[in-house]
Formats: sequence, structure tokens, C-alpha cells
Amino acid sequence: MKDIDMLPLAPNLIESTRSIGYSFETAVADIIDNSISAIAKNIYVDINAYDSPYVAILDDGFGMNLIDLQNAMRYGSDNPNKTRDSNDLGRFGLGMKTASLSQCRKLTVISKKNGVINACCWDLDYINKTKSWKLIIFEKDEINASIPMIEKLSNLESGTIVLWQNFDYIKESSISLSDSLNEKTNDLMYHLSLVFHRYLSYEDPQHGVNIFVNNNKLKPLDPFLSYHTATQVLPLEPLEIFGEKILVKPYILPHFSKLSQQDKYMVGGEDGFKRNQGFYIYRNKRLIKWGTWFKMSRQEELFKLARVMVDIPNTLDSIWQIDIKKSSANLPDVIKINLCNIIKNIVDKSEKVFTYRGRNVNSKNINSVWVKIENRGNYSYQINQNHPIVKQYENSLTIEEKSKFEKFINLIQDSFPYDAVYVDVSKGNIASQQPNDEFIFKEMMEYIENGEKAGLEMKDLVNSLITIEPFNKYIHIINKIKEEMLNDK
Ligand SMILES: Nc1ncnc2c1ncn2[C@@H]1O[C@H](COP(=O)(O)OP(=O)(O)OP(=O)(O)O)[C@@H](O)[C@H]1O
Ligand SMILES: [Mg+2]
Repeated sequence: MKDIDMLPLAPNLIESTRSIGYSFETAVADIIDNSISAIAKNIYVDINAYDSPYVAILDDGFGMNLIDLQNAMRYGSDNPNKTRDSNDLGRFGLGMKTASLSQCRKLTVISKKNGVINACCWDLDYINKTKSWKLIIFEKDEINASIPMIEKLSNLESGTIVLWQNFDYIKESSISLSDSLNEKTNDLMYHLSLVFHRYLSYEDPQHGVNIFVNNNKLKPLDPFLSYHTATQVLPLEPLEIFGEKILVKPYILPHFSKLSQQDKYMVGGEDGFKRNQGFYIYRNKRLIKWGTWFKMSRQEELFKLARVMVDIPNTLDSIWQIDIKKSSANLPDVIKINLCNIIKNIVDKSEKVFTYRGRNVNSKNINSVWVKIENRGNYSYQINQNHPIVKQYENSLTIEEKSKFEKFINLIQDSFPYDAVYVDVSKGNIASQQPNDEFIFKEMMEYIENGEKAGLEMKDLVNSLITIEPFNKYIHIINKIKEEMLNDK
């Protein structure tokens, strides 16, 4: 037996990998995955549709030295079977190249580490000319002001620019390249706000990011409307597959007619609201696939309101067929069967949630902290998990912390001292503890600030103060805030 090296022909292989099926927005998202894996805190996407059109994505992550950079440019820079860091969004060692060159003919990566800036470039025209895998390495004087955002990179301690130029496909498939790029910008903003919403909302404060598209800061697009007082959050359903934890959190959304314009946008309009029911599959908190029941649910009216967050760690990559674009996933039967059981539970529980609502004996217009629940003539008190402040707090927690928080809440409500309270109240022994005005004012302002961070309108937040216990007891403070913030006298 003998063997020979049979290397792929560079122009042919690269040309073929350009057709993997990226859209403009999934390609940019793949580049942003790398920035997040590089622990970037700020990511700037600049789209210039005129003169010499380009797309440049700059991050302030840990950057690369020349050796790292050269290796990063290699097709198959990493082994897909390698165990990755638990926060790494990569897998195949291909994304940066395939995503970029699916959109353009020239990919330049400029990176800064330890005070030194290096740049490398795959230029398809050069590869066609040389008919080999010739990576262009920039000389020092070639890294100059002609590179978009280079000044911003120079001012950073470390970071990376991914630069796309020469948009042959987009040019061929549209009448005007600039109109087409401008149009794609809107779709891109929506897509990034959705797939990275858990990073944008700083769900895990250590791994939050800010993303700017043409200097517009993206707001998180929460497909569960988890901040909405009428969204029903059902308990976490933990699943264990091959020793790894998958967290499943079901949400029942409010009826479409109850949503504000902003909420409607969040859920994808009336069409998206119906179409996008189902599982939302996250890999390391990055949304991969959404709006599917994997063909396993009955189409019940109630289901139209259900969206289920499924959190899968990257350690389980090998058992689900995640594709290079990270935009589709085929779950193995073992997970599907488990999820199927959870769906059955959701129907039971959501039916209960809806009947519970009928039996809730509290004032409809006030979000009270404790709710009185009637059950066959008996009453019990529960903490209102849909209370806006409780929700805001819950939203600031990681999935693991949420599960603990839920247990904590259950502990408090299950041990409510009914008898002792009854005796003390009837004897008039309960001292009323009134917080001072300054404390309440601060709480109200924090509620407004957190709501704005979650993408809500300041005006709506201020107007909702009167419906929230205990704020509703402090009308003079609410009026002061209204006066100052809404100019409402
Ligand atoms: N913005 C960046 N900052 C620092 N390093 C980066 C950056 N972008 C890419 N890299 C490095 O380049 C390598 C190759 O990136 P590429 O996207 O091609 O593959 P990957 O992220 O490893 O896997 P996948 O194909 O699943 O995306 C990364 O593993 C990382 O080491
Ligand atoms: Mg990648």
C-alpha cells in the first residue's frame, strides 16, 4: 500500500463552501459568536452601503497575535470533536471563513493583542489567480487608516475587526447593492436582538454584551415577554441527558389582544405570534432554533400561547445535529421524548393557570405581592410570581439561580404562619412597618430603570406604578415622578 497527499483545490473548495446557505444575518451572527467567545463586552457592526461598500465587525475581546490569527484563518482551525470552554459558541473551526465568504469575496481580519496589530486576508480573486491557499499577510504600513474602524481598534487594549468587502452575490441578486445592504440592516438588527437577547439583557452579568449596528444600540428582544405582568411563567423542568443538564422553562404568553405595540414587535407581529409558538432552543444561551414543536404537539388553542425555553450546554453538541451555520438543530429522540412529556405537563399546568386565574380573588387592577387563591371554598395565600418587581428580580438571575429562587418562594408561601397571623391580627398585635418615602422612591426608580433596560417604554413604566403594590399606596411619590419624568402636572 502507498498513499499520497490529495489536497483540496483551493479555488474549488472555497467556492463550494460559499453555498452552505447562510443569510446575511446568520453570517453576521456567526462572526458575533466569535466575539462573544473572545469575552467581548462591546461589539460594533458598521455597514457602509456606499462608495466602497463594506461590513466591519469590531469587538473588544481578547484579540489574537499573528500565530493565533494565521491559525484562525485556516479552514478547519479547530477539531470539531474537541471539548470547548463552557462559554465558547464555536465548534467547527470554520464559521469565520465560511460565514464571511458566503457574503463577500474578500475577508480581512485585523486583530490586536499585547499592543501589536496584525492583519490577514483571504481574497478569492487572489486565490483564483494563484490557484493555491495563499493567505495574504499585511505589512505594517498596510495596516493604515484605509481600514474601517482601525482607529477605534488602536484605542482598545485588545480586539478584532472582521472586514467584508467585494459583495459579488448581493450585487448580482439585487438591482442596487446599496439599497440591498440598507434593507438587510433592518433584518439584521431584528435577528441579532433576538438570537443574542439573553446576552443583551445581561441575564448572566459576567457574560453580557452591548451590540451596536451603525451606532444603534440593540435592545434585547425577549420572545417570552417575561417582563409582562400577564405572562405566566411555569416552573423549570430539569432534564438530565448523559449526565448533562438541560433546562426547560415554559411560558404562557398573554393573549395577543392584550399586547402593546412594543410587545407585538417582540413576538414577531400577529403572524409571528402564531407561527413562533413552540420550543426555543438555546446553545450556551445563544438562540439556535425557534418556533417548532418538532412535530410532536397537538394543535390546541392553548398551545398558541406557549413558548418553551430549552437550554442545552455545548457539551451535548455531539448528540444533536447542530449545523455549521448554528441556525438549525435536529434533536435526538431521547431529548424529544422527554420534551414531549414536558409538553403534556404544560397543557395540564397551563389549564390550571387559566383556571387559577378565574379563582384569583384579588383586585384585578392591582399587582399585589400576595394573592389569595380559592380552592373549593378554602383560601390560601401565594406570592404573586407575576408581580413586576418579583419578575424583574427573577429576570436578573441565571437559570440555576432561578430554580433556587423558585424553591425559596415555595418555602415562604408553604410555611405562611396562618394561625399565628390570625391570632395576632385578632388581638391587634401586628405593628405596621411603613418604609420611608426615600426608600420607596428609590425602589420605584430602580423598577423604571430595569424596565427600560428590558426594552420597555419609560412612559408605560411610570404609568404602571399606580397598579403595583406597595407603590400604589404612595400616590404623592408617583405624582412627583410623573411630574419630573413625564412633565405631567
Ligand atoms: N473576534 C475574535 N476574537 C478572538 N479570536 C477569534 C475571533 N474570531 C475568531 N477567533 C479565533 O479564530 C478561531 C476560528 O474561528 P471560526 O469562527 O472560524 O471557528 P470556531 O469559532 O472555532 O468554530 P465555528 O466554525 O463553529 O464557528 C476561533 O476558534 C478563535 O480562536
Ligand atoms: Mg466561530
